[in-house]
Parts: sequence; C-alpha cells; structure tokens
Amino acid sequence: MTKEDVDLVEQRRSSRVEHKVIKKKKKKKRCKRKVRIQVKRPVKMISRTLQKLFDLCQQVFKGPGTVPSPSDVQRLCHILDVMKPEDVGLNRDLQFFQPRSVVVEGKQRVAYSTIYKCHNFSLCIFFLPATAVIPLHNHPGMTVFSKLLLGTMHIKSYDWADTHGSDNYDSLSILKLARMKINRSFRAPCETSVLYPTSGGNIHEFTAVTPCAVLDVLGPPYSKHDGRDCSYYRENSYGILSNRDEFTKTEDDGHRYGWFEEIEMPQESEMDGIPYMGPQIDESIS
Ligand SMILES: [Fe+2]
Repeated sequence: MTKEDVDLVEQRRSSRVEHKVIKKKKKKKRCKRKVRIQVKRPVKMISRTLQKLFDLCQQVFKGPGTVPSPSDVQRLCHILDVMKPEDVGLNRDLQFFQPRSVVVEGKQRVAYSTIYKCHNFSLCIFFLPATAVIPLHNHPGMTVFSKLLLGTMHIKSYDWADTHGSDNYDSLSILKLARMKINRSFRAPCETSVLYPTSGGNIHEFTAVTPCAVLDVLGPPYSKHDGRDCSYYRENSYGILSNRDEFTKTEDDGHRYGWFEEIEMPQESEMDGIPYMGPQIDESIS
C-alpha cells in the first residue's frame, strides 16, 4: 500500500472526525449537557460486519492447542464470506489497487496491517502489489481463515503427507514429503479459505496476479515464545528422488506430492508494517 493510499484513508477518517466536531459545535449552542456526554464518547468508524467478526472470534478461539468446532468454523465463514473491502476501510479506487501504467521491476514488497491481536487470535490484512509473493510458509498449530478482499491471487497449498511412515523423508531427512491441497487462482469476491493445523493446506504460498488485499484471521497467532514460529520452505524437484525433472508428481492415489526443504526466511518475505486506518473494533461491546 502506498503512502498516498494511507494518506487518503487517513484524510477520509479525519474529514469524518472534523464533520462530527462541527456538528458538536453547533449542538453546543443548543444544549451544553449533551455536548459534555458526546465529548466523552470517542468518535469511531464502526463496521457491523467487522464487529461481528471480532465478537465471534472472541467466542470461538479458545487459545493455543485448540481448534474451533466445525459449526464455529461455519459461523466465522458466514461472516467472512460477506465481508467487503469497506469493512476494513478499503475500496478498489485506492491507487494501490489500480493497474500499473509503468512496469515495476524487481521484487515487490508486501505490507501488512494488524487490526487486532491478542493471545487467542489476530486479525491482519496483507497488501500484495502485482507479482508479489508470500513464499511457502507454515502455520504451526494454527487455524487460519483467509478472505481475499480485493484483486486476484494464486494460492498453492500443501499438507504434510502421513508422517508415520519413513517414506515421507529422503535418506538424509532433509526433505519432507508434502501433499498438494490447492493450486489455483482466486478472484475477489470469493469464498473464504480455511486451513487447520494438519489439514486444509497448512503450508501455503500466495502470488498476487493483480494488486491484492487479503484478510487473515489467525487462531492462535504466531508466537516464537509459545513455539509457533513461522518456517519457510523450498520446493525441491521431484527428480531429486525419482530422476524426473518435475517439482510435483501425481502418485497412484491421485494426489500430487512434492519434496520440501526448510530454509531460512527468504528476503522477499520481509514485509512493511503499516498502521490500520479502517473502522475500529469496540472491545467493550462483547
Ligand atoms: Fe499464511
């Protein structure tokens, strides 16, 4: 997201605040008591949908080591499925989401904005310029809901193949076998994607086909302290073990598999944090 976009959102927010201040000044002449009550209450932009999402997150995410029940997952998806960019202060007219007239060379940096974070869950928006990539990474012990708000994004995701058998590792145990779950493009508006600690595509990669904004609900959030640090992976050619020059291979069970190697955090995964400027969550309501 460019500085101009951030300024635009801030400008809109400020103009609403100014508008309310003017209204308050006018009311001051009529009734001093009312003004005092209004001044005590902070002026906030509220999105009912975002507030509903927050309230439900507080109910369903019980903390590390837990996974929301299927019915709770469904309830969260129902809210996320109808979420609009405006619910988090975005719209497609922002400069960031316009097609680039000039081709930008080099790696595109991803930005993120945290709406809310606590011990049990977090709400975060990721902004990917066209061609930007969030490389293959995992979500240890986490349930993650991803809602694409704007743009077109290619998602590739995997789960570890059955870890009970030794067939999942190569002879040096550097590579680990992963089963492909998703490999397709999503265009907003679209349904919410959900991944779980051991299923649903816990290891994924996002590639922006056009400039994108995606809202992630993570329960619980990453925490180095609690053993939920993010790991990154490189997809190795399947040919390493089968003498065939391909990254994934369809096995007899009909699934595609790939060999993954854990790597240091890639440079392109570094992100810029930007302040959240959209509608606020009211923690006192729930
Ligand atoms: Fe992710």
